[in-house]
Amino acid sequence: MNIHQVDLNRLKSLETPLYYYDMELLANTLEAAKTAADKYGFHIHYALKANFNDRILQLIQSKGFGADCVSGNEVQKSLDMGFPASQITFAGVGKSDKEIILALKENIFAFNVESIQELLIIDELAGQIGVKANISLRINPNVDAHTHHYITTGLDENKFGVPNSELENAAAVLRSCENVNLLGLHFHVGSQITDMNVFKSLCVKVNEWKNWFEERGTTIKVLNVGGGLGVDYYQPDTNPMPDFNAYFEVFDKFLERNPNQEVHFELGRALVAQSGTLVSRVLYTKSGVKKNFLILDAGMTELMRPALYQAYHKIEKLGDSSDAQQINYDVVGPICESSDCFGKEVELPYAERGDLIALRTAGAYGEVMASRYNLRDEIRYLFSNEI
Ligand code: LLP
Repeated sequence: MNIHQVDLNRLKSLETPLYYYDMELLANTLEAAKTAADKYGFHIHYALKANFNDRILQLIQSKGFGADCVSGNEVQKSLDMGFPASQITFAGVGKSDKEIILALKENIFAFNVESIQELLIIDELAGQIGVKANISLRINPNVDAHTHHYITTGLDENKFGVPNSELENAAAVLRSCENVNLLGLHFHVGSQITDMNVFKSLCVKVNEWKNWFEERGTTIKVLNVGGGLGVDYYQPDTNPMPDFNAYFEVFDKFLERNPNQEVHFELGRALVAQSGTLVSRVLYTKSGVKKNFLILDAGMTELMRPALYQAYHKIEKLGDSSDAQQINYDVVGPICESSDCFGKEVELPYAERGDLIALRTAGAYGEVMASRYNLRDEIRYLFSNEI
């Protein structure tokens, strides 16, 4: 059920701010992604970092997705939620020994290894435990994702992956590691990518590096091309999910792979973003010298993306306001920071204290990035299938 279809009186009776999840839309999005991937035999690992809410993970797990983790706690959470270890990957530039040991003992599908030093540590720890670690080597492909610079990861200047200049050395080190088994190669160039040409450029790089390894006699079983597929933040209702068919088609068309090579994806945002809405209440309205302010009870503590990346989340007033006067508001939160602003000069129907405001497309990197700054309340939820 779309946020606009939820009974307004019911919503008004609840304490805000709260995250509302449209579980039907989530289920439909997951099914669309799965169907599109299955067509080519592609595997999807859900990137837990986008949202690790239990209800959401339950649904994703039940649909047969794997899990892409970036901490020991995420690995543990995936296991607790029923994701099989054989479908769990573990990425991140700074895996601690404790996290590596946990993942080794649980025998996860693969570590996505980000540096030669990390490779040596995994080899050493695996040797101590007496297991063999399956790994994919993360290569920094130097592909520009043309997205916000904070969420671009595949450029030479970024900290992620093994740089091209180090690969010769990495291949030699790999041959000397007795407790490590190279499954494949891993890439991830950034997030919120809507231009399919970026993925096409990525495929070209993946092909190059795959050939490079194969020419040196190394078998590459898995090509993990990461995540990054973006969503439409501007039209949440007319365009409620990404075009998964177009996305996977690019990889089918441009990735060179032999029949026994698997292609893996790590999608986060594309699967969960659009099913989430942050529902907030107008606390105060204020007309400054130059501005009309709408002061909400939600702030950057509940949804950090606008303050951190100048990200846009569509702001809507809930309830019928078809004949209301339109006003330009600066929509702000209660936190003591000027960056605590969801939008400037946003045209909205006239609003007053007590009205509900929706911040759409907040299902990814929303509640997981929330903080208790200002000693704010814990996050509250409402799930459409529990109304
Ligand atoms: N794989 C790796 C290695 C990643 O670093 C990421 C995201 C993903 C997969 C999933 O990417 P997605 O499909 O969600 O784009 N907090 C930022 C986004 C940070 C993304 C970090 N890495 C935001 O709110 O826009």
